[in-house]
Amino acid sequence: MKIIIAKDYEQVSERAWEVMREVVYGKKDAVLGLATGSTPIGLYDKMAEDHRRNGTSYRLMRTVNLDEYAGLSPENDQSYRYFMNEHLFNRIDVQKQNTFIENGLAEDEAAECARYNAILAQLPRDIQVLGIGANGHIAFNEPGTPFDWETHTVALTQNTIQMNARFFKSESEVPRRAFTMGPKNIMDAKRILIIAVGANKAEAVRGMVEGAVTPDLPASILQRHPDCTLVADEAAASLLKK
Ligand code: F6R
Repeated sequence: MKIIIAKDYEQVSERAWEVMREVVYGKKDAVLGLATGSTPIGLYDKMAEDHRRNGTSYRLMRTVNLDEYAGLSPENDQSYRYFMNEHLFNRIDVQKQNTFIENGLAEDEAAECARYNAILAQLPRDIQVLGIGANGHIAFNEPGTPFDWETHTVALTQNTIQMNARFFKSESEVPRRAFTMGPKNIMDAKRILIIAVGANKAEAVRGMVEGAVTPDLPASILQRHPDCTLVADEAAASLLKK
């Protein structure tokens, strides 16, 4: 795993953009795997700014997102679809019909997972952006998720519900289930960019980089990826061996 340590969030976002830029400048019809959460917002700001200033076009690109809450409509301002529209899609020239996220309102969960796996198979990702949970989760793959799982639905852990409660009026409003790509789908991307910010991620980052490769720490699977870059701020990297 290639490790880039940056001073603060602005620098982290800049370094993450440098990795993403190689992909979006290098391939007009790239497929971008994207993540939500607070971590990649700075990267999306850089992409939007570059589009505005330099006219970098996303018209031929496709995007696929990691995950979506079950039960939230795209119009719900806490859905991940809404988040992506706000933070990125509405700010660049990607065509909305080329942006894929699981359908949170799907009634047949198994059919929705199969539909999403088929999309992922048709659209090999040139890069997959990831954040990391304080417990080492990637997407909504919580500790214990088998590495060979593809898209599936999960009951969120109490830890993740608490972490995500900051985005809702109260913890009771956080959805209890979600659709998520599985570890296997994530590993299928040609390149992975994982971003980690803040001291509360330090333990998970250490486990991911230096610990055993185990489903108990889902991000540790990334040690097996041939082209994975971690961009971390000093706080998140603080427990790594110097
Ligand atoms: C988001 C996702 C999650 C987040 C992780 C970190 O699509 O799948 O795994 O990447 O929970 O979240 P933040 O960035 O809010 O700390």
